Amino acid sequence: MENLDVNKLPQHIAIIMDGNGRWAQEQGQDRLYGHYEGVVSVRKVVEAATEIGIKYLSLYAFSTENWDRPTTEVNGLMSLFVDTISKEVPDLHKNNIKLHFIGNLSLLPPEAQKALEEGMQQTAQNTGLNLIIAISYSSRCELVEAAKKIANQVKSGQLAINEINEAILSKNLTTSEFPDPELMIRTSGEYRISNFLLYQLAYAELYFTNTLWPNFRKKDLIEALMDYQSRERRFGKTSHQITSD
Ligand code: IPE
Ligand code: IPE
Ligand code: MG
Repeated sequence: MENLDVNKLPQHIAIIMDGNGRWAQEQGQDRLYGHYEGVVSVRKVVEAATEIGIKYLSLYAFSTENWDRPTTEVNGLMSLFVDTISKEVPDLHKNNIKLHFIGNLSLLPPEAQKALEEGMQQTAQNTGLNLIIAISYSSRCELVEAAKKIANQVKSGQLAINEINEAILSKNLTTSEFPDPELMIRTSGEYRISNFLLYQLAYAELYFTNTLWPNFRKKDLIEALMDYQSRERRFGKTSHQITSD
């Protein structure tokens, strides 16, 4: 951790937590066992992010596409969300962490919606790490919803078509309160975005590791941050322009 440059930390890290099923398989266990262990990694990474001083951490917990998994796995994950949130909220609160959820939460079972709602309410006044959990999330769906919201504003005369710009689009996404992630990490050796924050990741640095999510720890987060700090973020400019700025 001493090797990190505190002046070059991302404000916002997004993580696609992948590989729970394969981790469980390696242990000769049911896939759900991998999801339980994945919660341990979430706790460790949240602690580490707080310690390092990250302001925003987005975690992809369940995609819209994940609804198509076998019912037993989906139900197991839903119970795990409820249990974990109820158990973890007191500690999150103590650590001044503010919980947010993004995704189509209306598809969740009522008890899960209630747990999420309570978690958000209880931590609403906190000013430390913003922990954003994506559940039943689809970036394409989020963009479609934004298009509908903007269309309605135009229809009602609140907004003119030529006023629509990138800022307006961002403002109509469910992530409107958060800056875009500067670093996106995906575990388990898969090299894809899987419908996560497509618009928001436009200029994120992408970091892929073979480590399966249940094995991911603080040292892995630090490795990703070290790698991030070694990159030259050019935003379309030349390297010369960046270094002589
Ligand atoms: C990620 O792990 C967690 C969720 C998608 C809920 P997976 O369950 O996708 O694990 P693998 O990819 O099958 O190993
Ligand atoms: C992406 O993982 C979603 C989450 C980590 C929650 P998946 O394992 O579902 O993604 P694909 O199907 O391999 O793209
Ligand atoms: Mg997977």
